[in-house]
Amino acid sequence: MSIVYINGEFLPLEQAQVSVTDRGFVFGDGVYEVIPVYGGRLFRLEQHLQRLARSLREIRLPDPLSGNQWQQCLQEVVRRNGGGDQSIYMQITRGAAPRDHAFPKQTRPTVYVVSSPLQPMAAEIEEQGVAAVTLPDIRWQRCDIKAITLLPNILLRQQALDQGAVEAILVRDGQVNEGAASNLFIVKDGELITPPKGPFLLPGITRDLILELAAAHDIPHREAAISPRDLQAADEVWLTSSTREILPVTRLDQRRVGEGKPGALWRKMMGLYQDYKQIVRERGELPAA
Ligand code: PDD
Repeated sequence: MSIVYINGEFLPLEQAQVSVTDRGFVFGDGVYEVIPVYGGRLFRLEQHLQRLARSLREIRLPDPLSGNQWQQCLQEVVRRNGGGDQSIYMQITRGAAPRDHAFPKQTRPTVYVVSSPLQPMAAEIEEQGVAAVTLPDIRWQRCDIKAITLLPNILLRQQALDQGAVEAILVRDGQVNEGAASNLFIVKDGELITPPKGPFLLPGITRDLILELAAAHDIPHREAAISPRDLQAADEVWLTSSTREILPVTRLDQRRVGEGKPGALWRKMMGLYQDYKQIVRERGELPAA
């Protein structure tokens, strides 16, 4: 049975409750993180907690727990759900209050942490890759905040699924920034390119790790704006996230990407990524360089 953390208590999922006046429920007024766990260890925990702290600052919600408290809470959820590989979802909302757009005078944030199974990449994806479509980015101007308010992302992802693709790649003002729930990389003439951080994309933890691995292994890489034309002309297209790792996109808007198969640089980066995961499984996270 799944054990969750809710406002200071560890409870079976079925017993966890929040008020219907919770601002997360009423307004989507909150932020979240998704952290993969490998061999019982929270992957890139420090980076996820830093991004969470930033999201909370940006929505002006005081962090309800200290770094140490977060660490203990998350590790306890992992332990109570059997260790091994899992995916941790954590959400903090501005708490229960009568409905009013203005912040409540006194805020008691609602804190919720839940574990779910982590799905390994299907063999078919490694062999064939996935399809993606480009769609206009209908989201707001603060996509750098990991807000629980995800209606545009949901509509975009569903539109992609309805077209037989797994993800929507979002176009805004002549630039492609990221996917509905993933960051974007392209490969052109052996060089790895991803858009620079800014208000129109989430600063992905997987994205940063890929750039770190590229730097450590002398893979040419650069942060630069990507146009829809660059995307169409790319040799490889990847979508990255904590839950799906590095997805090779082999069909884009009904056309083949490169050879129409997962590319050579994708294969190399997947190897480096899996090696890194293995080190974390065995020894834990290495201190940041
Ligand atoms: N989403 N961009 C968006 C809009 C995202 O929602 C995500 C992740 C990413 C990738 O970030 P990271 O590498 O830190 O997972 C980029 C999570 C997994 C989700 O909403 O389930």
